Amino acid sequence: MHILVVGSGGREHALAWKLAQSPALSALSCLPGNGGTAALGTSLPGSAGDVETVVRAARERRADLVVVGPEAPLVAGLADRLRAEGIPVFGPSAAAARLEGSKAFCKEFLARHGIPTAPFRVFDDPAAALDHIARRPVPVVVKADGLAADKGVVVCADRPAAETAVREMLVERRFGPAGARVVVEDCLVGEEASLLVITDGTRCVPLRAAQDHKRVGDGDRGPNTGGMGAYVPAPALDDRLLGRVLDRIVEPTVAGMRAEGTPFAGCLYVGLMLVAGEPYVLEFNVRFGDPETQPLLVHMADDLLPLLEGAARGDLSERAPAWHPGAACCVVLAQEGYPGEVRKGAAVEGLEAAARVPDAVVFHAGTVRDEAGVVRVAGGRVFGVTARGADLAQARERAYEAADAIRWEGKFCRRDIGLRGLGRRPG
Ligand code: AMP
Ligand code: GLY
Repeated sequence: MHILVVGSGGREHALAWKLAQSPALSALSCLPGNGGTAALGTSLPGSAGDVETVVRAARERRADLVVVGPEAPLVAGLADRLRAEGIPVFGPSAAAARLEGSKAFCKEFLARHGIPTAPFRVFDDPAAALDHIARRPVPVVVKADGLAADKGVVVCADRPAAETAVREMLVERRFGPAGARVVVEDCLVGEEASLLVITDGTRCVPLRAAQDHKRVGDGDRGPNTGGMGAYVPAPALDDRLLGRVLDRIVEPTVAGMRAEGTPFAGCLYVGLMLVAGEPYVLEFNVRFGDPETQPLLVHMADDLLPLLEGAARGDLSERAPAWHPGAACCVVLAQEGYPGEVRKGAAVEGLEAAARVPDAVVFHAGTVRDEAGVVRVAGGRVFGVTARGADLAQARERAYEAADAIRWEGKFCRRDIGLRGLGRRPG
């Protein structure tokens, strides 16, 4: 089977790495891939966001399955275009991808189906939004409706901050059309966890619960990022809570999307806040999480390919995948300046030493390999150094040992990834 993986991050390297171990795989291509995926298959030119380039590449290379990493091409209709060409694809239609592409759509869907989420209102008029905020408790959360690369959510400690966020989005159009509507919602206080579920639109296979670390600095300080590290399984989502998430959130979401004529097939990422023993939906993503996918796939003992193929073809087997014992932990190595602009080009050293750490895998994210074969920094999140261990403490130790072996000018990482899972306060 020839698989084309679309995207260029640590998530896509982890998907390629796991799929490359499948006995059913005969060839692997990545569009565009990165300095790590290049060792596993063919890197194809182009951008993951360019729908027609991806469709052409899938057709020309006769891909048997296209696995889409990022959300933007899904929201733009890549899966629909591929299906129209008769090419199997893992990833939802544009109509189903609205669960991530429009926060207003998502919240209204949740409300229609009685799925627990924070109370909210949707506004396109700044005066009405400000009037509402004046009557709500603080902190309050202001969200741009559309895709805004992790920057469109502002948790506002007081009303002036919320007013600024509304003005930036609705008046100054800081996020362009993505901020032409805003969701204003109550702030939930609790513990965050994510559950990724593979679904063919009817049947579901939940993966293990994960916990991401979204802020850039130790102790959850500083601006939000795409994610600075993650671990699985997350003890915060115990079996009782997992059962509630499946019954009260996942099952009604999948059934609701089907009932509305827009079945969701692919990976449903459920971002949760656990408040006093009850799960609430913070957000849905319509694709694998990054970095969560990295520890998830290192922890997964079974073949991933049948799951993705089953979801794409509509005949997913509900057998739960087998997992390695223990846990897995991923530490993101980033370039100075992230989540803002970063300097590119620095040469990376120590990758061989990192790869010698037992049960550690270095996933590339923002890297390229130059003509001389040197790995160079090409983005904000540069690597996801991931390891498994007999327990979370060992997984974490190995991940940091491998992470510390890698060097370049401007490298940084959080030092507290996974501490919460060990029952210790981060920072
Ligand atoms: P989202 O992209 O909607 O998940 O939001 C990004 C981050 O903002 C989440 O991971 C939370 O940390 C935070 N957040 C979003 N909505 C809320 C909420 N209603 N209450 C508290 N924190 C929130
Ligand atoms: N780590 C969060 C995300 O993938 O959006």
